[in-house]
Amino acid sequence: MTDYRTLRVALLGAGAVGSQVADLLLKHGDELADRAGAKLELAGIAVRDVDAKRDADLPRELFTTDAETLIVGSDIVIELMGGIEPARTQVLHAIASGADVVTANKALLATHGSEVFEAADQVGAEVYYEAAAAGAIPIIRPLRDSLAGDRVVRIMGIVNGTTNYILDRMDTEGADFEGVLAQAQALGYAEADPTADVEGYDAAQKAAILASLAFHTTVPLDAVHREGITSVDAAMIESARHAGYVIKLLAVCERLAAEDGGTESISVRVYPALVERTHPLASVHGANNAVFVQAEAAGDLMFYGAGAGGVQTASAVLGDVVSAARRHIAGGVGVGESTRANLPAVPIGRVITRYQITLEVDDQPGVLATVAGILSEGRVSIATVEQTVIEADENTRTGGSARLVIGTHKAREQDLSETVERLAASGVVERVVSVLRVEGN
Ligand code: NDP
Ligand code: HSE
Repeated sequence: MTDYRTLRVALLGAGAVGSQVADLLLKHGDELADRAGAKLELAGIAVRDVDAKRDADLPRELFTTDAETLIVGSDIVIELMGGIEPARTQVLHAIASGADVVTANKALLATHGSEVFEAADQVGAEVYYEAAAAGAIPIIRPLRDSLAGDRVVRIMGIVNGTTNYILDRMDTEGADFEGVLAQAQALGYAEADPTADVEGYDAAQKAAILASLAFHTTVPLDAVHREGITSVDAAMIESARHAGYVIKLLAVCERLAAEDGGTESISVRVYPALVERTHPLASVHGANNAVFVQAEAAGDLMFYGAGAGGVQTASAVLGDVVSAARRHIAGGVGVGESTRANLPAVPIGRVITRYQITLEVDDQPGVLATVAGILSEGRVSIATVEQTVIEADENTRTGGSARLVIGTHKAREQDLSETVERLAASGVVERVVSVLRVEGN
């Protein structure tokens, strides 16, 4: 074997992802050395409980609870603990100690990314995070490097495996929400606290990371509009199917044209949306993710694959480890993120998209005209209407309730939400069943 220089690698965390990273690093050490041009020595694995059962058979003597000491003298530190603390402190400690950092921690990067990247810039270190968005799918490098010469216009992604798994099983099998969530947890897809998945926090963190790279702008997490999937029920899924749609939790990052002589801006948002069943994103099943990127010169690009799972995510982590090792061997300072475009993020009220509004109304003469009038006054143009009688007087076939499903043309979110409020207060609407955005074209 070639006489390579040895690089010391410290691993923080040996859970769903970390245990697989350690296993592959030990199993494929020689091959990785040939690719990296350096021998990667796994110096130790920091965990909370050294005796806990692991998903892979790993040497007991590698485990320690002393992350701080393990980091000192390491060339590459892989952070796979998750959460903000102590991950943040250990990552900053690693950078200050002269190591490059590989992390899959979107929560940390979306909230303390600027601090971490600035610390790395100051000492010429590099932070790699391919696994922090969309698991095994290469999307960070394409945005950061391959598309650096282009202008990204829009990203539309399914970036959370857990919620896609839940929505897909509800859609294809009529499975119930709680039962499928428990399975997603057992399969290692969900975050330690699955609220992060089902309430859209995880997807929002990934959207902030993707938008920052795509638009060369620091996008803080609080600039991302976020809604989760807990309000999605079997009736909404069925109604979507009936109308030719499927419900997906989408992360949408959009560049908006300048208005009134101002500058360009961006919109970053996460919500459950209707996607036409013929759209490529509709056929993303299980815990898979897909990221649809539209760039001015490149046109439409689609990145697809496993968005979660221990061994799948380990692939992306190890790719970063090899990149970090190559940089160590080649020398030179790390290349920082470009955030110079500094585009402002607009509030959700300024977003323009299509909607599907489902209402329960009195089944009386004139009700449809009243509803149409309120929509028209609110500058919301109707594209389609479907009415189903859900309860009626047996003799006259009137006097009961009806379900109205209204598809709109593109409208401004602010106009739409004010209009829905007026509908709810109109006296003819018994219940606003749901309001969903339609995304995809
Ligand atoms: P797990 O919860 O399965 O594992 C976390 C690991 O970190 C455990 O080994 C745990 O130790 C260790 N740990 C946690 N806190 C501490 C601490 N204070 N000190 C020392 N060790 C600690 O997480 P995952 O492997 O699922 O996720 C790791 C990271 O990867 C997260 O940032 C996650 O968001 C990200 N990610 C996960 C994906 C997935 O599919 N699971 C996909 C993409 C990214 P112990 O075992 O002893 O408790
Ligand atoms: N909990 C995350 C998901 C893991 O379900 O997508 C991958 O980031």
